Amino acid sequence: MPNLLAKKPLSALLSEAKQEGEQTLERVLGPFSLTALGVGAVIGAGIFVLSGLGAHYAGPGLMLSFILSGLGCAFAGLCYAEFAAMIPLAGSAYTYAYATLGELFAWIIGWDLTLEYAMGASTVSSGWSNHFIEFLRIFGLKMPLWLAYDHWTGLRAATDIVARQFVSATNPALLPGSQEFLLKLDAVKNAQTPELLSHAHQLLNAPHLFGVEIGVNIPAFIIALIITTILVIGIKESAKFNAGIVMLKVSVVLFVLGLGSHYVNRANWGTDWHSYAPNGFAGIGLAAGYIFFSYIGFDAVSTTAQEAKNPQRDLPIGIIASLTICTLLYIGVAAVLTGMVPWREVNIEAPIARAFLDKDLGWASNIITVGALAGLTSVMLVMLLGQSRVLYAMANDGLLPRSFFASIHPKFRTPWKSTILAGLLAAIVGSVTPIDDIGKMVNIGTLLAFVIVCIAVVVLRRTNPDQPRPFKTPGIYLGGLLPVVPILGILFNGYMMYKLGWINWARLIIWLIIGLVVYFFYSVKHSKVQAMPAAMTTGRPMVKGVAARE
Ligand code: ALA
Repeated sequence: MPNLLAKKPLSALLSEAKQEGEQTLERVLGPFSLTALGVGAVIGAGIFVLSGLGAHYAGPGLMLSFILSGLGCAFAGLCYAEFAAMIPLAGSAYTYAYATLGELFAWIIGWDLTLEYAMGASTVSSGWSNHFIEFLRIFGLKMPLWLAYDHWTGLRAATDIVARQFVSATNPALLPGSQEFLLKLDAVKNAQTPELLSHAHQLLNAPHLFGVEIGVNIPAFIIALIITTILVIGIKESAKFNAGIVMLKVSVVLFVLGLGSHYVNRANWGTDWHSYAPNGFAGIGLAAGYIFFSYIGFDAVSTTAQEAKNPQRDLPIGIIASLTICTLLYIGVAAVLTGMVPWREVNIEAPIARAFLDKDLGWASNIITVGALAGLTSVMLVMLLGQSRVLYAMANDGLLPRSFFASIHPKFRTPWKSTILAGLLAAIVGSVTPIDDIGKMVNIGTLLAFVIVCIAVVVLRRTNPDQPRPFKTPGIYLGGLLPVVPILGILFNGYMMYKLGWINWARLIIWLIIGLVVYFFYSVKHSKVQAMPAAMTTGRPMVKGVAARE
C-alpha cells in the first residue's frame, strides 16, 4: 500500500541541490536582483491587457479590484516567504510540498503549476499578439481578423466594428465615444440581432474547416514557438538581461502614470458609489478574480533560491518588495486608465496603448506598445522556463516518465523534450482560446496553490514547531492556533476563486481529476520516494540543517 503522504527526505533534496549547485548555479543574486526578478516575472499581460476587460467588470472601481487582489497575494506571499526561507531550494511550491506535506500534495501542486506556467504562457502569448497587431498598425499594416485572433475574439472584434458603424450611421449627430453613443453601442451589441451577426461573419470572412468557422491567433502561436526554441537552445536568462527588461517595463509603466495623469478627466471616475462601481461590489470582486493574473509570477523569486547570496534574508525581501512595487504601480495604472477613458470605452485588446492613441498621442502609444512587447516576451520566457523545470523535477522524482521529461539534450544541455511539449501546448492553446478564458483558468489554479500554501504554513507550525524559520509569517499566534494572516489569505484568495464562477471550477476539477488518474496509474508506481524505506519518508524532524548549510 503506497504512503500518499510520504515526504521527500531532506538529505535527498540537499544532495540534488548540491550536485546542481556544483555544476551550474552560482550565488550571485542579492536583494535588488531578486526584487527585479520578481517584478520582471510579474508585470505583463495582466496590466497591459486584462485590465481592459477588468474595467468593464468593475468600472472605475478597478482600482479597488487591484487592491483586493493585491491583498490576497500579500497574505499568500507572506506564507510563501516563510517556506522560501525555510527550504531555500529550487522547485518552489512543489519542492516545499514534497518536503513537508507529502507526495500527493506535491503532485497536486506540481500538476496545478502546469496550469499556472504553461497556460500562463498561453495567456501572455495572446496578449503579446494583441500588442503585435498594434505594432503593425504603426506601419499601417493589418492582419485578417481570423488570422489575428482565435475564433471567438475575432468574431467579437468584427461585431464591435459592425455595431460602431451601425450606431454612427443611424445617429450621425452623436460623437463616437460620448456617453450616449456608448450606451447605444452596448444596446446594439447586446441585442445580437441576426443581421448584426451576419454582417460580423461577413467581415470576419474566415474559412471553414469541416463546416466550422475557424480563427487562429498566428502571432501568439509563432511567439510561443520562438520562445520555446530559445529555451531549447539554452539561453541562460541572466540577471543582467532580466534587469534590463525590468527597467524598460517599469519605465513604461511610470511613463503611463506620468503622461496619463495629465489626461485624466475626474468625471470618468464617477461622482458616487453607483457611478464608481456600476456593477456594485460583485463587479469589483469579479474584476479582482480576473486581474489576479497580473500578480502571478512573484513566486518565481523562490525558484532562484540556489542562486541567492543570502536566501533566508533576501527571498522574503524579494517576494514582498516585488509585490509591493507592483501593487502600487497597478493601482496607479488603473486610476489613470479609468480616468483617461470612460470605462465602457476601455479597449479590451490593448487597453493602455489604445487609451493614448485615442488621445491622439500616437508616439506615446507606440512607446507603450514596444515596451509591452518586450515586457511580455520576458514573462513568457520565465513561465516556460519554470514549466520545464517543474516537469523536469517531477520526472527526476519518478512522478512523470523520466526518459521523456528529464531527457537532457546532448548538445544544448537543456530539458528539451519537456520544453518543446510545454511550448507546443502553450502555442496551441494560446492560438485558439480567448485570452479571458485561459486567464481565468490560470487564476483559479494559482489561487488554489496559494490557498494550499496558506494552509500548509499553519499545519507545519503545529507539526514542526521547532523547525528553524529565518522568516516567520507574521500574525500567527498561539503556536498556530490563531493564524490571522493565513486565514485572511484563504478568505481573500478563496473569495476570488468563488468569483471566477462554476465554469472555471469545473475546469479546475476536471484538470485535477486527470492529474489524479495520472498519479494513481503512473506516478505512485514509479515514485522514487515510495521506493525508499518508510523510516526515511515520514519526515520528522523535517528540515534540520538547511539553515546550517546555507
Ligand atoms: N503576472 C504576469 C502577467 O501579468 C503573469 O503577465
